[in-house]
Amino acid sequence: MASVTLEKVEKVYGTLRTVHGIDLDVADGEFLVLVGPSGCGKSTTLRMIAGLEDITSGQIAIGGRRVNELQPGERDIAMVFQNYALYPHLSVAENIVFGLKLRKTPKAEIAERLQHTAEILGLEGLLDRKPRQLSGGQRQRVAMGRALIRNPAVFLFDEPLSNLDAKLRVQMRTEIKELHARIPTTTIYVTHDQIEAMTLADRVVVMNKGRIEQIAPPEELYRHPATRFVAGFIGSPGMNFFDVTIEKSEAGLSLRLPEGQTLRVPESRHALFAAYAGKQMLVGIRPEHFTIAASDADATLDVAATLIEPLGMDTLVHFKMADAIAVSRLLPTPGLKAGARLKLAVDMAKVHLLDPSTDLVLG
Ligand SMILES: Nc1ncnc2c1ncn2[C@@H]1O[C@H](COP(=O)(O)OP(=O)(O)O)[C@@H](O)[C@H]1O
Ligand SMILES: [Mg+2]
Repeated sequence: MASVTLEKVEKVYGTLRTVHGIDLDVADGEFLVLVGPSGCGKSTTLRMIAGLEDITSGQIAIGGRRVNELQPGERDIAMVFQNYALYPHLSVAENIVFGLKLRKTPKAEIAERLQHTAEILGLEGLLDRKPRQLSGGQRQRVAMGRALIRNPAVFLFDEPLSNLDAKLRVQMRTEIKELHARIPTTTIYVTHDQIEAMTLADRVVVMNKGRIEQIAPPEELYRHPATRFVAGFIGSPGMNFFDVTIEKSEAGLSLRLPEGQTLRVPESRHALFAAYAGKQMLVGIRPEHFTIAASDADATLDVAATLIEPLGMDTLVHFKMADAIAVSRLLPTPGLKAGARLKLAVDMAKVHLLDPSTDLVLG
């Protein structure tokens, strides 16, 4: 096992800077997930760590050793790709041991490690098959076997589950997590799927346009997003953002929305909001922080439902606020129809305040 360190790592393609000086410390045994929208530089970052892509500037170290000049094969890493990259003409067993054979590992050791790896991944009955005779999930497992058998210091995964259907993706996600619990090899895992990121990671790195927006454990990302981008990206459906003016009067502190409705700021949030009294700010409210208001509720909005999505456990109710559509996640409300008027209470303890000029979350 080994730590991985990136210092001011940059990638420029021609005149296009795709990775802007990234600093990252991955601890020994940690499961780190890079997440962000398509094109934000996740694969480029991973491929630079793997040595499949030169770095334009900066330094990468694995296990405390500078690897900038080392070939992929010299870095003690194993990578699993989205498309599995299996050799179609080789059997499952031959695919898995391919790297060991290249390294001239003794035959008896290869056989022993193959058996061990096949057991871990449940591939014992499939070793003689060709990749085309396998399901997508089985192919993915073979690709993992090929990485696992080498017992590398670091695993690198690039969207390994993206080609699987939704159900299998969840199952393989669980398997990867259990595998890491049993064999805690340092892992850097790339995905565009925030749920995959949140469920797998010890820490999540949120990337946007070639930069790191925030690095934090999943719970902290959800509760304390640092920027508007992270606040909107983590959570599904995403956080709602509203333009507000913060008003101070004898009655206390309130948020005025564009349509004129107001939300009372409770005492517990005064310290934060009072500092911006009179200013135009942005607030973020997660769908799950709305509820159908009890008659005496404090901070409420009157809304008209525009769309109802019953999910079983809960129901998504869309409503219009000024020009934007907002989404609330409510307890199932039988009989609720589009067009219905609702009084929604806002959990003001969980509302985020953002500075619209910097897009930073203030609290
Ligand atoms: N070989 C390349 N030549 C030029 N541009 C590239 C190359 N590879 C990737 N890019 C660009 O770099 C950016 C980041 O790509 P990538 O790391 O693949 O993003 P992600 O994996 O997050 O979807 C994209 O704008 C992409 O078009
Ligand atoms: Mg990619």
